[in-house]
Amino acid sequence: MGLTYFKRFRMEYDLGEELFERPETPPGYWLFSWDERLQEAHGQTKYESFRFELDANVFPCLGDADGCRRLMRDIVSREGFLPEATWLLGTQLPQQRRFEYCGTIQGIRDSRETGSVQNLGVTPTHRGLGLGRLLLWHALDGFRSAGLKRVTLEVTARNTRALGLYQRLGFRTVRTVYKAIDVAYA
Ligand SMILES: CC(C)(COP(=O)(O)OP(=O)(O)OC[C@H]1O[C@@H](n2cnc3c(N)ncnc32)[C@H](O)[C@@H]1OP(=O)(O)O)[C@@H](O)C(=O)NCCC(=O)NCCS
Repeated sequence: MGLTYFKRFRMEYDLGEELFERPETPPGYWLFSWDERLQEAHGQTKYESFRFELDANVFPCLGDADGCRRLMRDIVSREGFLPEATWLLGTQLPQQRRFEYCGTIQGIRDSRETGSVQNLGVTPTHRGLGLGRLLLWHALDGFRSAGLKRVTLEVTARNTRALGLYQRLGFRTVRTVYKAIDVAYA
């Protein structure tokens, strides 16, 4: 037994500047704005996106379907929950028989001027197509239309793909934090 420390970066995006260029939604993909009937789909897509990832060690609930469902319920019931910054992505590509959800992001207002991105996730088979960038753009646009000035998020330092994406889009690191996890779970 003992503690493992995960190094994480707190990053910030200044909404006072122009957003990065609005990405096109690729053919065969659809964005869904928040609707409470989509809460379950957000939770399930979160689970599909995180279950085999590093962050499921940092936050064990992300590696568990019920945990993701609970997390989604908690996010939605928070006073600062921001529907405008919460998006779900779905797809039905010609080679697929059925529609599926493949990406999720949620936003919270933390104070009058600051919001935070909760969990950005794209399911494994749909990565590298610009969908993470697309979800982030729509979330940031939602934070901006709600009158916020800046948006923060935290990313695990070893999550190079997410970190690189945030850096390229204009997020800057403002603090380094360490999250302690009992090795029984890590
Ligand atoms: C992080 C995540 C959301 C990115 O989603 P995505 O749809 O693949 O993102 P995009 O396609 O918009 O961008 C990925 C970027 O990584 C690059 N990339 C592609 N494959 C990569 C790889 N194997 N390693 C590192 N970078 C890679 C792409 O070139 C792209 O860069 P660009 O925007 O300069 O072109 C997705 O990988 C994910 O859900 N990961 C698991 C959950 C997670 O860790 N979420 C972040 C929590 S902070």
